Amino acid sequence: MNDEKQPIGVVGVGWVGLVTATCFAELGHRVIALDIDEEKVAALRRGEVTIHEPGLAELVASNSERLEFTTSMEDTLAGARLLFCCVDTPPTYSGDADLSRVRAVVQQLPQDSQHALVMKSTVPSGTGAAIRRDKPDLAYVSCPEFLREGTAVDDFLHPDRVVIGAGEGSEWAADAVEDLYRPLGGEIVRTDVASAEMIKLASNAFLATKISFINEIANVCESTGADVMEVARGMGLDQRIGPSFLRAGVGYGGSCFPKDVSALKQLAGNTGYHFQLLNAVIEVNELQKRRVIAKLERHLGSLVGKRIALLGLAFKPDTDDMREATSLVLSARLQGEGAVVTAYDPVAEGTATTLLPTVEMASSAAEALDGADAGVVVTEWQEFAELDWPALRERMATPLIVDGRNFLDAPTLRDAGFTYEGIGRPVTA
Ligand code: UDX
Repeated sequence: MNDEKQPIGVVGVGWVGLVTATCFAELGHRVIALDIDEEKVAALRRGEVTIHEPGLAELVASNSERLEFTTSMEDTLAGARLLFCCVDTPPTYSGDADLSRVRAVVQQLPQDSQHALVMKSTVPSGTGAAIRRDKPDLAYVSCPEFLREGTAVDDFLHPDRVVIGAGEGSEWAADAVEDLYRPLGGEIVRTDVASAEMIKLASNAFLATKISFINEIANVCESTGADVMEVARGMGLDQRIGPSFLRAGVGYGGSCFPKDVSALKQLAGNTGYHFQLLNAVIEVNELQKRRVIAKLERHLGSLVGKRIALLGLAFKPDTDDMREATSLVLSARLQGEGAVVTAYDPVAEGTATTLLPTVEMASSAAEALDGADAGVVVTEWQEFAELDWPALRERMATPLIVDGRNFLDAPTLRDAGFTYEGIGRPVTA
C-alpha cells in the first residue's frame, strides 16, 4: 500500500502530467513532479502555468505547498515509490507510437522492487511486457488516462472508470494506485497489463469510429434531405447507442484520436492483421475536413480571390491546442484554391500565428468577417453563438455562413439574412 505520507512521483510535466500531479495534490497528497525541461520546471516553481486548461492554474496555485517541481530523477526516486509516467508518445512517420521518451525514463529507473512505474502515457499493447523484461524487479502498472482537454480537471476528479492493469509481482503497486483513485468514486477496473493498454486504444478508436460514422450519415443526409441533428437525437435515445459523440462536423482532431487510431491500426498491422474499419475511420475523417470547400464553391463558384473567414482554429473549444486541427487542413486547401484566408480564435492565436503564417489573424470574429465572402465555423466557441449576426451581415461581402460544427442557431442566421449551411442539414436562406 502507498504510505499516505509518501509523495507521489510524476514523470513528465506536460498536459497529462501537470493535470495528474495537480489533482493528486488537490486530493491531499504530496507530489514530486519531474521534467527534463529546466525552463518549464523553473516557470512552474514560480507558479506560472502556460497550458490553457480551465481551472488548472488556480489549482496549481492553491496546492503549491504540496507540489514540488524538479529536474532530478535522483530526488524523485528518493522521495517517491510510485512514479506516474506521463511523457508524450507522439506518432512516428510509420504511424507507430514513438516510445523514445518512455524508454529514456525506464533507463533511469533502478532494478529494485521498491519502485513502481505507473504508465499513464498511451502506449501500444506489449509495452508493459517489454519494460518488465528489461527491468524484471520493477513493479509495473498500466493506468491509462481518459482526460479530455478543456475538462481535464473535472474528468480527473470525476472519472467514469479507472483502469488498473498489473501482473504478477506488481500487485502491491496496483493496490496503491487503487487506493489513490478509490476516493474519486469511478468504477475501478482491475485487469492485466495488455488488456489495460488495449482498453485505452480501443476506447479512443471506438469514439473516433462513432464520429466518422455520424459524419458519413451526415453526408448521406445531404442528398436525402434528412437533418443529421434529428437523426443523431433519434439514434442517441437508444440506450445501446447513447447520445454522445454523435455530433457531425468537419472531423475530429487533437492530440489523441488521430494518434491513437493510427497507433491501433499500426499495432494490428505489425501483427499481420489488417484493421479495415480503422482505415475507413481515418479516411472518412480526412475527407470530412475538406468537405467545406465544395460547399463554398457551390455558393460562390471559384474561390480564387474570395475572402474566407475561419471562425475558430483550435481542434475544439476551450483549448489553444491545434494538433491535428481541421483548421490546418482547411486553410491550406482554401489557399490552394486561391482564396484569401482570414481567421479568428479566442485563445489559439499565438499557436496559430506560427503554424499558419500565411493566414491573416484577426483580433475578433467581426474583424475576420469584415468584407468576407463567407464565414466558416471550424471550432464551436461559445462566443460565436452570441455574436450580433444582423450587424455582421452588413460587414460581409456575401452573407454566407458554413457551420462546420452545426453549432449556430439556423433560424437566427436565416432571420439575420444569411444563407446558412451546416453539415448534414438542409440549407436555409
Ligand atoms: C479525447 C478523449 O475523449 C479522451 O478520453 C482521451 O484521453 C484523449 O482524447 P480530447 O482529444 O481532449 O479527448 O477531445 P474530445 O472532446 O474527445 O474531442 C476529440 C475531437 O472529436 C474534437 O476534434 C472534437 O471536435 C471531435 N468530436 C467530438 C466530434 O467531431 N464529434 C463529436 O460528437 C465529439
